[in-house]
Amino acid sequence: MQINTKLLHGYPVIDSVTGASSIPKYQASTFHQTDVFNHTGYSYTRFANPTVDAAEECIKSLENAHYGLAFSSGMAAINAVLFLLSNGDHLVLGKNIYGGTFQTVTEFLERFGVSYTFVDEADIHAWETAIQPNTKMFYLESPSNPLLTITDISSVCAIAKKHDIITACDNTFMTPLSQQPLALGADISINSATKFINGHSDVVAGLLATNSENLYQTLKVHQKVLGGILGVEDAWLLLRGVKTMGLRMQQSVKNAQAIAEFLESKTSVTKVYYPGLSSHPHHEIHMKQATDGGAVLSFELETVAQIEKLFNNCHVPIVAVSLGGVESILSYPWNMSHACMPEEERLKMGVTPTLVRLSCGIEDLEDLLADLEACID
Ligand SMILES: Cc1ncc(COP(=O)(O)O)c(C=O)c1O
Repeated sequence: MQINTKLLHGYPVIDSVTGASSIPKYQASTFHQTDVFNHTGYSYTRFANPTVDAAEECIKSLENAHYGLAFSSGMAAINAVLFLLSNGDHLVLGKNIYGGTFQTVTEFLERFGVSYTFVDEADIHAWETAIQPNTKMFYLESPSNPLLTITDISSVCAIAKKHDIITACDNTFMTPLSQQPLALGADISINSATKFINGHSDVVAGLLATNSENLYQTLKVHQKVLGGILGVEDAWLLLRGVKTMGLRMQQSVKNAQAIAEFLESKTSVTKVYYPGLSSHPHHEIHMKQATDGGAVLSFELETVAQIEKLFNNCHVPIVAVSLGGVESILSYPWNMSHACMPEEERLKMGVTPTLVRLSCGIEDLEDLLADLEACID
C-alpha cells in the first residue's frame, strides 16, 4: 500500500459498531460491564479506549511496527521511555537533544540515580567510547533541534546491539513518512504528534512504536501508571489530521528545500542548517536514512537587529513555539524552545541570539519567498 492510501485505509478508520466513516469519540471514562467477571476489552479509559486505540494502530501502521502507544504529549511519551532506566543505570544521548528531554535527564533522572553522558551525536565513535558497564540506553534524535545535526542511526544502533543497549530515537522532525528508525535498528521510535502527524497546531500528543513485545508491555504499564494518556478528543483530532499527512508533508518539504536554497544564496544569511542541502556536512548520511530533508530548517543572521526586523516584518509565517503545522512557524530558539537551558549550554551547542528556526507549512512557496525576501534584505 502506498503512503497516501495507507493514511486513509491502513489502520482502523471505520467504526466497527456503526460503520461510521470516522472512528467516533468514545468520550467515556468508564464502560458498563454486563458480566462482572468479563468486559469487552474496555473497562476504564486510562487503560484503553477505542478512539485512542485507533491512534495507536495508526502509529503502528505508519512506523511499520508491531506495537503502538499514544500519550498526552511528546514529553509524556519520552518520559515513559526514560522510565525504562533504573537507579544505577547509565544513559548516552546526543548533546543537541530537545530542551524538554535535556531537562528531564539533567533535573530528574539524576535525582533517581541515573547517570548520563552527552556526546557529539554526529560522531559514531563518541557513542561507543561513552559506553560504561552499566549503560542501558542510547537516546537519539536525528535531525536534532534546532541545528539539524545528523546521527548515523543504523551505525549507532549497531553499536548499541553489540553491547545489549536499548536505542530510542526521537523521530519528530522527519516523521515516519520520511524516516523509519525501527527499520534502521532502533528499538523504540518516538514522535511528538503535536507536530507534523496531527499537523494543525491544535493538539498536543505523543506516540511510540516498537517491535519488542517486552518493551511494549513495560511501556504500556508506564502509560497506565504514569497516567499521561492521550485524551479522547485529541485522539480523534489526531486521527482526522493524519489523513492528509502525505499531502501536507509533500508541500512542506518542497517549500523547505526551496527556502533553504534561497537563504543559502543571501549574503545577510551567514549559515543555513538543512540536511536536504548538499552543503550540509552530513547530507549523504541523512539522505541514506531518510527520503528527504524534512520541513524544518534553521538559519543565522548577522545581528540581533536583523532578527528583530525579521520577526517584526514577516507576515506569512506565524511567530510561535512549536513546528509541524499547516501554517509556517517562525521561532526563536534562544528565547523559546531552548530558554530552559543555561545560557552557556545554549551557546556551546550553537543556539545563539541570531539563530532562527522555520517550520515550513503548506502555503504557496512564492508567498513565503516574497515575505522572507522583504524581511531579510
Ligand atoms: C524533537 C522534539 N521532541 C519532543 C518534543 C516534545 O513534544 P511535546 O511538546 O508534544 O511534548 C518536541 C517539542 O517541541 C520536539 O521538538
